[in-house]
Amino acid sequence: MRRSAVSVIAPLADKARAFGSKAGSKRIVLTGACGQVGAELLPHLRSIFGVENVIGTDVREPPPLLLASGPFHQLDVTNALQLERLITEEKVGAIVHLAALLSATGEKNPMQALQVNNVGVTNVLEAARVHGLSVFSPSTIAVFGPSTPKHTPDETVMRPTTIYGVTKVHLELLGEYYHTKFGVDFRSLRYPGVVSSAAMPGGGTTDYAVEIYHEALAKGRYTCFLKEDAMLPMMYMPDLLKATTELMLADGSKLTQRTYNVGSLSFTPAELAESIAKFVPGFEIDYAPDFRQAIAETWPQRLDDTIARRDWGWEPEYSLDAMSADMLATLRKAGAAVRAEAVEALTEDVRRAAEKREQMMKFLASQADETVKV
Ligand SMILES: NC(=O)c1ccc[n+]([C@@H]2O[C@H](COP(=O)([O-])OP(=O)(O)OC[C@H]3O[C@@H](n4cnc5c(N)ncnc54)[C@H](O)[C@@H]3O)[C@@H](O)[C@H]2O)c1
Repeated sequence: MRRSAVSVIAPLADKARAFGSKAGSKRIVLTGACGQVGAELLPHLRSIFGVENVIGTDVREPPPLLLASGPFHQLDVTNALQLERLITEEKVGAIVHLAALLSATGEKNPMQALQVNNVGVTNVLEAARVHGLSVFSPSTIAVFGPSTPKHTPDETVMRPTTIYGVTKVHLELLGEYYHTKFGVDFRSLRYPGVVSSAAMPGGGTTDYAVEIYHEALAKGRYTCFLKEDAMLPMMYMPDLLKATTELMLADGSKLTQRTYNVGSLSFTPAELAESIAKFVPGFEIDYAPDFRQAIAETWPQRLDDTIARRDWGWEPEYSLDAMSADMLATLRKAGAAVRAEAVEALTEDVRRAAEKREQMMKFLASQADETVKV
């Protein structure tokens, strides 16, 4: 199901030359690189634009593997001066702005969500205006609210009830404003809930759809924090990577709007559990809905992405069962790699212990020799 890396990346690599600043630089700064999306979008962009051309950044200290994989700077997006310095010093041409607080985390700390999300995107767009940079920054299905039709077109009622949704409506409108008023090439997608295997999700209402796979393999059962019939739009990471890079590299003259719905899958927790049970026999689910159920009830069930399909040829690839098969295979392989590493470490420990014992025996023998000599 997953298209070969070569067939996806080769045509994109040609277009990649055109993406970047008006001055011609194609170096990209990616914010929020340590998060669920960043963990996979960063290496994907590097495979298209070149490792040295995509600079990962996050307010958090990165895990050692990420640090070793290419250029990285610690950056707080609420600090305009830090961002300005990085753009100037690294001759940056574009920003992929992911850093944000998501729905569940945002409800626990609304003031911080306002600060990170609103000030962050304002700093990014202002830097883009001053330096002539392109910007891609995702929006979300959380921009919609209870009065939005459940089968949701691009242009519709946007009255979200979470602070996260409010900040993302701000992001969409500010991006459009900077495009119309200052000519900033701002592009955005309303990501559905994201399912992925490389990093755990960071505090969203759709996190259950990732946790469930981990628990299916670890325990054969899962307690879901949403109700069994909570249908939401979702997307598997390979489709998200495809949608993101296709929009980033799309011919600007074909785009009729700055922010697009992108549809892929829509399923309920019960349907997801049924799909997982096909690959994990005996898998069981029960339900203990919490505050996230109330958030889910305000969101769309299905996104109408007719305009993305028409303007830049959007087409998702993964069905629900194809996603389950791929997620479980990837997690099993990752688990096997972790076990292999543990065995290797154990073997190394045994070897070192044997070495130490041998040295000790030699030392004791030499002491014994000394004693005899005396
Ligand atoms: N994951 C989803 O299901 C989903 C769905 C819709 C939209 N999105 C959007 O995709 C983007 C990435 O989401 P994600 O799932 O990777 O989120 P995440 O919570 O996993 O990661 C966000 C990252 O931003 C970083 N960050 C927080 N505050 C920062 C600051 N002040 N400066 C710099 N970095 C900071 C965090 O350390 C974290 O690594 C977000 O803009 C989000 O709104 C995600």
